Amino acid sequence: MGDKMQAMTSREYGGPEIMKLEELDRPVPKDDQVLIKVAYTSVNPFEWHHLRGEPWLMRMANKALLKPHVHILGADVSGVVEAVGAKVTRFNPGDEVFGDIGFGAFAQYAVGAEKKLAHKPNDVSFQDVGVVGIAGLTALQAVRDWGEVKPGQKVLINGASGGVGTYAVQIAKVFGAEVTAVCSGKNAELVKGLGADHVIDYKKEDFTQNGKTYDVIIDLAASRSIKETKRAMAPVSRWVHVGFNFKNMILGGLFGRWLFSDSGKSLVLKIADVNVDDLTTLGDMLASGKIRSVIDRTYELKDTSIAVEYVETMRAKGKVAIEVN
Ligand SMILES: NC(=O)c1ccc[n+]([C@@H]2O[C@H](COP(=O)([O-])OP(=O)(O)OC[C@H]3O[C@@H](n4cnc5c(N)ncnc54)[C@H](OP(=O)(O)O)[C@@H]3O)[C@@H](O)[C@H]2O)c1
Repeated sequence: MGDKMQAMTSREYGGPEIMKLEELDRPVPKDDQVLIKVAYTSVNPFEWHHLRGEPWLMRMANKALLKPHVHILGADVSGVVEAVGAKVTRFNPGDEVFGDIGFGAFAQYAVGAEKKLAHKPNDVSFQDVGVVGIAGLTALQAVRDWGEVKPGQKVLINGASGGVGTYAVQIAKVFGAEVTAVCSGKNAELVKGLGADHVIDYKKEDFTQNGKTYDVIIDLAASRSIKETKRAMAPVSRWVHVGFNFKNMILGGLFGRWLFSDSGKSLVLKIADVNVDDLTTLGDMLASGKIRSVIDRTYELKDTSIAVEYVETMRAKGKVAIEVN
């Protein structure tokens, strides 16, 4: 096969059915990049947003209105370093790595910037680190940085059974919070097993209507309006709005200060940052057993489109993994 590889490509905008398995040349790392023989990757909502080119604002931001510039998706990665660019200092061929490289991991070989990768802990599987990237970084930063969660605080996690939520429940417990997980009844045992102290089945109970309030709301489902969510916020509290809700994001982004100016409540809208320190922290948490990766399903590379289709249903329980090599 020489320097060829199999990759799942998407050369136009559309649903998972447009993805194709192609044989391509292996990518060549730039000076600051590492070439990785991919072991595992995973599917996040990030991938289906990029696949479909939705919302349209994203196409504008990427300067790719009609066709995508990037043809291989896949942000999360784990694998073995095959080659390194001239300026790479932290990795050598043969090192086991994981991280979030943005694009390109739906392939047997992928290149990623050195600063977006960490060393894989010896006693954690390629699968467990291969799915942690986006979801784990988001959960860690939502709890520690954006929510500034302190021991004893009441933290509600809306969308607790998904990719980000399953890590967020565990990380909020590591930070000493009293955690209320909001998910459907079928996932109640899962989130309790991850440490949630209380579970609200959103199909039976509305957390914005039950009179209870929280110091931090980590909102992954982003299923309620600003007015509704404010009701569930303690007098001094933060609403960490992570999930995709266009109306909340536009209103909150433009008028957030004004909408929350009457109280000690605040709205935090953020996008996760990929950095070595946080990847290393997540690797350490996995290695020490403080957190674990919840894997709902695992697919082969050739079935990545089926995996994307499943994640798009927004019913995944934890992470959806792709086994590559
Ligand atoms: N800001 C950032 O940097 C950032 C980073 C990563 C992700 N995100 C966004 O965060 C959101 C969550 O990402 P994810 O990877 O966790 O997604 P995911 O894995 O697809 O989430 C699926 C989970 O959402 C739950 N869910 C769906 N509707 C719900 C509702 N109305 N109330 C409560 N739970 C509900 C489902 O539980 P049931 O089946 O029990 O309903 C399922 O377990 C997405 O919108 C994603 O785009 C943002």
